[in-house]
Amino acid sequence: MKTLLLSLTLLSTICIGSDYEPPVGASGAQIFNDACMACHGDNGTGKFGLFFDLTSSTLQVEEAKVIIQQGGLMMPAFPNINGKELDALLTYLVSLRPVLAAKE
Ligand code: HEC
Repeated sequence: MKTLLLSLTLLSTICIGSDYEPPVGASGAQIFNDACMACHGDNGTGKFGLFFDLTSSTLQVEEAKVIIQQGGLMMPAFPNINGKELDALLTYLVSLRPVLAAKE
């Protein structure tokens, strides 16, 4: 039942998107902690299972960018994360991936 309620809460974020706006010059880690951690966990390992795990993501940075700005199936869109802050966030996301980060 708890899971169901949680799913419904999460589902209600669909289509709405988030109006979260990062402070100017915010670091990737700061933005992640403020806007992403609730679903994706402290280190991007995901709070509710595999779908939320970003450390095993194989997306190219450009693809991740599109998901952040336009949202996904359950992932809210963050149209207000732009420019420098978006770049910082993407760099942080890649740094969470043990394998890919090591390759770069
Ligand atoms: C309401 C929960 C929620 C929040 C908040 C959230 N996400 Fe997500 N995110 C998801 C879910 C669920 C998925 C799985 C794909 C989908 O729903 O389309 C996902 C997928 C992703 C993906 C794609 C991963 C892949 O390999 O396919 C990226 C990148 C991502 N999220 C980044 C972020 C970032 C960055 C933030 C903060 C700005 C964030 N998410 C905030 C729920 C969330």
